Amino acid sequence: MAGALFDMSLEDARDRHNKLVAEIKKHDRLYHQDDAPEISDADYDAMRRDLEQIEADYPELMTADSPTQQVGAAPSSGFKKIKHAVPMLSLSNVFDDEEYSEFRDRILRFLNEPGDSGLELLAEQKIDGLSCSLRYEGRKLVQAATRGDGYEGEDITANVMTITDVPHELPADAPETLEVRGEIYMRKDEFAALNQKLAAEDKKIFANPRNAAAGSVRQLNVEVTKTRPLHFFGYALGETGSEIADTQSGIREKLKAWGFQIPEPSYVGIGVDGPLRYYKEILGNRAELPYDIDGIVYKVNRLDWQDRLGFVSRAPRWATAHKFPAEQAVTIINKIDIQVGRTGVLTPVARLEPITVGGVVVSNATLHNEDEINRLGVKIGDHVVIQRAGDVIPQVVKVLEEKRTGREEAFKFPFRCPVCDSLALREEGEVAVRCTGGLICPAQAVERLKHFVSRNAFDIEGMGDKIIQMFWEKDLVRSPVDIFRLEERNKGLAPPLQEWEGWGEKSAENLFASINERRRIPFNRFIYALGIRQVGEATAKRLAAHYRTLQHLRDEMTQAVDSGGGAYEELLSIEDIGPGVAEEIRMFFAEKHNQQVLTELELELDIESYDAPQAADSPVSGKTVVFTGTLELMSRAEAKARAEALGAKTSGSVSSKTDYVVAGAEAGSKLKKAQELGVLVLSEQEWLALITGAG
Ligand code: IVH
Repeated sequence: MAGALFDMSLEDARDRHNKLVAEIKKHDRLYHQDDAPEISDADYDAMRRDLEQIEADYPELMTADSPTQQVGAAPSSGFKKIKHAVPMLSLSNVFDDEEYSEFRDRILRFLNEPGDSGLELLAEQKIDGLSCSLRYEGRKLVQAATRGDGYEGEDITANVMTITDVPHELPADAPETLEVRGEIYMRKDEFAALNQKLAAEDKKIFANPRNAAAGSVRQLNVEVTKTRPLHFFGYALGETGSEIADTQSGIREKLKAWGFQIPEPSYVGIGVDGPLRYYKEILGNRAELPYDIDGIVYKVNRLDWQDRLGFVSRAPRWATAHKFPAEQAVTIINKIDIQVGRTGVLTPVARLEPITVGGVVVSNATLHNEDEINRLGVKIGDHVVIQRAGDVIPQVVKVLEEKRTGREEAFKFPFRCPVCDSLALREEGEVAVRCTGGLICPAQAVERLKHFVSRNAFDIEGMGDKIIQMFWEKDLVRSPVDIFRLEERNKGLAPPLQEWEGWGEKSAENLFASINERRRIPFNRFIYALGIRQVGEATAKRLAAHYRTLQHLRDEMTQAVDSGGGAYEELLSIEDIGPGVAEEIRMFFAEKHNQQVLTELELELDIESYDAPQAADSPVSGKTVVFTGTLELMSRAEAKARAEALGAKTSGSVSSKTDYVVAGAEAGSKLKKAQELGVLVLSEQEWLALITGAG
């Protein structure tokens, strides 16, 4: 199975496991109850990692009372939840000049503006802190929230009130209602001083300024927050009562005028190279800045263009983060393990001698696949350069062959699944080796369950990886529907969950409550949770928007499976669903077991039918539109994005279900088909008139 820190016999492992459990519990108590920790954060984390490792190697040692199994270990925060009026999204990334130009080109293509002479970008430092949304009503600060999942954050108003950079009141020229978004951070010198103070008091220190800022804000005791040196930089707006500026740089000026701190300097300019020069300059001076930054953010300066560009999934099209290069370090590969993913892919993982890279302890790095191992020529025992960029999984960059002693061992990629022993095959033209065990492979089943409850799927709080694994091993949760039957099932269990070691009335109750909270779920999240191969969040949304209800989707897919024909073609006509994805979807529904799971889930859940955004007040909501030919007033991508934002469905092919065909210059076969079928054909101008209500 998974890898070991040391090669141990089961008895040695049991011995060490017992010792670690006792030690960790002691330090938990010292830290949480006595407020008197005796060891550093890093040492504590190292012990926990050892424990996790042993349990990964010897799952039989994992008992319900192990600290790794404690639900209550990270107590649910105790902060009130707040829904964001405007979602707080994240940023896409670019890592080099080429990706930066692609970002620019994409924008220009989308906007369909001639040349690039007019594209003005603003470049600004990317602050490495925690994002926060400040809400002002009647020009008074009334609320502060963390980002959370982007749609719902935590109410940290009381804590934020203690930050002196945050104005409590805005001047008369600010709008009545205003949300200011920005980053809460701690300066590097203040962070060092705080850690010194904590160490002197024998308290746990923070790993980096960002953790220190986050830890200080997420304090239930405001008195503690008050003693912490926190700052705030404003960089964007959420909901606004009235128009504030035409440009992003205009927003910066207003923020400054209203008393906010903004990161300086910034850059604004037309042309490709300016933002890159700014990036290089800031990268060079990074060490001299009083606070940590992890890159540069480029934003389209014109706000009307930002509006047109809109969002894809969770990130705006009009902005991106240019990340600073990864930080590297040298360490030793102790072992190579194989992990089996949700879809059966075998991924080699290097277990490393733990090492700090850019402030974070790294003990695993991905080796991606068999080809990568061969390309690197990596052996067990090798000294390697590893690197870490942002939150991405650390990678092995190269082997230091000059450090070889001759005792290194070559790694042979397995041809059987290390979990279920089924054959693992590499299909022609693929890099991935896959376990062929399918449903009988526990690793795949467990990974699928983890995906099912994960944040962007069912988002069941308190059901982390470890808990899923344990419920699986205890035979309590084997299929998604078991999650929703757990509470009932528990009533007949001896002993019931609340009497297991490490559990109690409260923690069991919390878990059932968070499961029950998720019995109602939006259709797109439900589809995503199913974990159909190649169906990510965006595709799940498209499917939900197209079929609206699970019943309808199931009917159509059953037809697609039985007879192919119209239903399969319709599936293929959905934007972004090509033959590969369509085939995966068809295969999923062709599987009897999956149909069974769906039927069972329907009994337990209330799956909301998909409501298109702004559906009610748009003249084209619910209509199916096909764009064809060369559009002149906007790009194809923008036309589609806009139609979808208004609740219309867009399709790539014309059928009797098509409501409108918008034909640009040189429209060909689709236009012909529309005329044959008697579908309404509109020019670009007519379409714009229709959607803007000007017709
Ligand atoms: S603009 C729609 N500007 O980075 C999102 N974000 O990794 C617009 N961040 O969630 C964000 N410094 O919390 C923007 N100067 C800056 C920033 C910045 C830090 C954060 C922000 C965002 C995260 C994405």
